[in-house]
Amino acid sequence: MIFDSHAHYDSHKFDEDRDEVLSSFLPAHDVGCVINCGSDFASSEFSLRLAEQYDYIYAAVGVHPHEAEEAGEWNPQRLKDLAAHPKCVAIGEIGLDYHYDFSPRGVQKEWFERQILLAQEVNLPIIVHDREAHADTWERLKAHRPRGVVHCFSGSVEMARDILSLGMYVGLGGAVTFNNAKTPVEVAAYLPLDRILLETDCPYMTPVPYRGQRCDSSHIAVTARRIAEIKGISVEELLTAAEQNARELFGI
Ligand code: NI
Repeated sequence: MIFDSHAHYDSHKFDEDRDEVLSSFLPAHDVGCVINCGSDFASSEFSLRLAEQYDYIYAAVGVHPHEAEEAGEWNPQRLKDLAAHPKCVAIGEIGLDYHYDFSPRGVQKEWFERQILLAQEVNLPIIVHDREAHADTWERLKAHRPRGVVHCFSGSVEMARDILSLGMYVGLGGAVTFNNAKTPVEVAAYLPLDRILLETDCPYMTPVPYRGQRCDSSHIAVTARRIAEIKGISVEELLTAAEQNARELFGI
């Protein structure tokens, strides 16, 4: 079965056919579990509603670096109340994004740090977004040593080694299938099977050969085929390992 450890079915790109995708299309394509990740308070609440509606969907709640500036005053109780939901399995997605810099870096760092500490307080893993902010992300992970995953991993093999040294997982998605993928392929080859999570980040990051189409969790089948080929193992072995890893991290 497919375990998608990172999806955004709250996205407006699913407004037309969300229920059809979630109630029949995905289950018919072997998708057995999905973590829907929040990016702000509204999408975190939406993620929890999806988790209430569909058995195989679980939620992560948190404030993405893009939304940090708009998120208002830090009110830990507001996030803790969301995190207390029985189907909330992580704090995410949280982190740093210096590619877009939609929020000032100082504000991003404050929200990242606070949410790492909150996750540790409520004993949940974190789902980390790191785009072109490897040094500052690493500094905070190393300082706090949280449980969690660095999603849509875009760093080098050296950075992956650092992440593994903390006991964290690495999330791999459509990027390994891209025609110019070099570092993602090296990282996929390097990672031990017991540290890999598979993900889409749908509706974004559509893998080859579906570029240009909306991404959904069924596309993990092609991403997994590519990673299995890189590692010289069967797709079944990879899917089983990734599912076990995700179940262990998220306690599902
Ligand atoms: Ni995402």
